[in-house]
Amino acid sequence: MIRSCVIGWPISHSRSPLIHGYWLKKYGIEGSYTRQPVAPETLATFVSELGASGFSGCNVTLPHKEAVFALVTRADESTERLGAVNTVYLRDGETLGTNTDGEGFINSLKQAIPDLSLAGTRAMVLGAGGASLAVVNALLEQGVEELVVANRTLERAEQLRRRFGARVAPLAWAQAGEQLGDCGLLVNTTSLGMKGQPELQLDLSHLAVDTVVTDIVYTPLRTRLLSDAAGRGNRVVEGLGMLLHQAVRGFSLWFGVTPEVTPELHDLVARDIDPEYRR
Ligand code: ATR
Repeated sequence: MIRSCVIGWPISHSRSPLIHGYWLKKYGIEGSYTRQPVAPETLATFVSELGASGFSGCNVTLPHKEAVFALVTRADESTERLGAVNTVYLRDGETLGTNTDGEGFINSLKQAIPDLSLAGTRAMVLGAGGASLAVVNALLEQGVEELVVANRTLERAEQLRRRFGARVAPLAWAQAGEQLGDCGLLVNTTSLGMKGQPELQLDLSHLAVDTVVTDIVYTPLRTRLLSDAAGRGNRVVEGLGMLLHQAVRGFSLWFGVTPEVTPELHDLVARDIDPEYRR
């Protein structure tokens, strides 16, 4: 019996058990994937005793991603740049950390829009918080030439430039709308538009019709940004795809099968988020 879990504090909201449970059943694997509430003061012990507790690894969610980065034996190069771990796995007695948020974001985009080209383009990211970091890192790895980062607190966007280099162009929040013009991709990484949060107010009148618009918020499944952009004729990619795709590599590392993000899985999780959901 192979065991994995997701750790966080609190953890009750996580949909990862639904995703991994679907794949365990689909591939007939004798394994389990559970939610584990882990308080910050017990985190170090939990990570060091992961194997002894019978786990092959775990996912890591808020607020532990940075702390777990500091606790693992090693992380890969891309994860080193991020300083945050969302997936832990055990190999040869070592506790290894990686981060699959960036590839989740990119693979979701590529599945939805196979002809999307990022290398050499200009893109805009709204937000410069924890979620933005993985998206910015991934887009730069894909060869985006100019990455405009608009954030309410400009200093946080400037920190991203210092961290990732001169392809990151910090922008004052109020200027985001007027700078949309020649972006191939627009991404919201702020919490605006999420259920229970204020709406994202962005003037889309400068948005070109061939700009792909995506949101990492997936509650609601289709945010106001996405429905406004779709209403203007833009292609949009919902945030749920990133959640599904970020789960792929962890499953493969723990259970030994690379799982597929199918329409059936998408609909299962979409209905969990919105019982009224219809394809
Ligand atoms: P996460 O880890 O989810 O990214 P975070 O680090 O708190 O969370 O970042 C939240 C992001 O949403 C930030 O970019 C934040 O802007 P600030 O850096 O200025 O705080 C953005 N955000 C949250 N509420 C906002 C609001 N009312 N207006 C504009 N941006 C907002």
